[in-house]
Amino acid sequence: MLTIFDEEFAREPWPVLAQLRADGGMHRVATPDGPPAWLVTRFDQVRGGLLDERLSTNLRFAQGDDYRGFAVPAPLDVFQSSDAEDHARLRRTVVAALRPRRAEEWAEPAGDLVRRCLAAVPADEFDFVERVAVPLPAAVLGDLLGLADAEREALLGWANSTLRPDGAPRARDTLTTMAGIIAGTLEHARGAGADTVLGRLLAAGRDDAGLDSGQLSGLLFYLLFVWYEVLADLVSGAVLTFSQRPTLAAELGPDGAVVDELVRHQSPQVLAGPRFAVTDLDFGGYRVRAGETVLLCLAAANHDPERFARPEEPDPRRGPNSHLGLGLGAHACVGTALVRTVTTVVLQQIYARWPGLRATATTVPWRSGFRHRGPLTLPVKVS
Ligand code: HEM
Repeated sequence: MLTIFDEEFAREPWPVLAQLRADGGMHRVATPDGPPAWLVTRFDQVRGGLLDERLSTNLRFAQGDDYRGFAVPAPLDVFQSSDAEDHARLRRTVVAALRPRRAEEWAEPAGDLVRRCLAAVPADEFDFVERVAVPLPAAVLGDLLGLADAEREALLGWANSTLRPDGAPRARDTLTTMAGIIAGTLEHARGAGADTVLGRLLAAGRDDAGLDSGQLSGLLFYLLFVWYEVLADLVSGAVLTFSQRPTLAAELGPDGAVVDELVRHQSPQVLAGPRFAVTDLDFGGYRVRAGETVLLCLAAANHDPERFARPEEPDPRRGPNSHLGLGLGAHACVGTALVRTVTTVVLQQIYARWPGLRATATTVPWRSGFRHRGPLTLPVKVS
């Protein structure tokens, strides 16, 4: 069994992943908590796994001593544990409620807000993670979702304690805080206008085929916490990437091609959620037993040279960009439209305010979480 997940892996996973891809593609690895799992690294295998109905996200298929993941308690696990039909209905409702009504629906408010937040960062040299990447999502999400002040502050408190070097408890340790913020948000949302995102989601919930409060809570878990972390990771990772390739910032555009390529290149979500084999199966040339855990490594697939020419090079012109950084199939990310629009606008505003923004170190510490990756600190200079 291999042990690969350490701080070095979080900072620079590519050599290890290249070795694992070359050496058969699938391996038994030790997860940071100890229990083993299959790690799948080749593009075709990972893509196949995301589409394979014999691999379920539902924890009830887990058996034996394999890794079971960070078990999000009900009802927050609704996307993982619903039956196929309920799950498909839930996804349809959510995607419809999150679809922008006009192209500017997300871009305008996010742009205004980012400008205001950045105006309050006066220093010439600072830690970009501390001053921008961690606080900014609280403001952007708070505004886009229409959160009350108390929830915005609680969200920022959660982010400061989770994503900064001095705190960094594991997500499972902050579940009570997260549940409190979700409950407060739902309470506030009942008075929200029908034209806000929360109002629209609640209106969908009043419909017979719509969302119940458990499903809404499950969605808010993603909207508030998963998005928060990945947005912070993606934005600071982008600054590090653009520091080495300054022309890329100028290519940010409404088609989202740069953001898609950043998601591929950086792969802030390293692994898909754990899958459990519902039956004994032959997969990728290996025998996987019923109940064993399969970790589909999106980062490894996104850097597979069999699929992406010169994968280490961020190139928004590669097309079609078939990266797996937002998943694929039945559990693909429902926030894709939001991710492209909001990340593009956030980065455009950052570079409009600081055209000369660049990292002052090429090697920075990375958070050594095993499912997500992002710089822990990022010293920058703006002129
Ligand atoms: C850069 C930001 C984001 C990244 C990189 C990302 C990535 C992903 C990935 C890789 C998956 C598939 C997981 C799997 O197959 O196990 C996923 C699922 C999901 N994402 Fe995102 N996501 C992002 C932002 C968002 C946002 C803004 C939302 C807000 C609605 C969201 C909601 C979800 C939900 C609900 C699922 C589960 C879907 C299901 O199981 O049916 N994500 N995301």
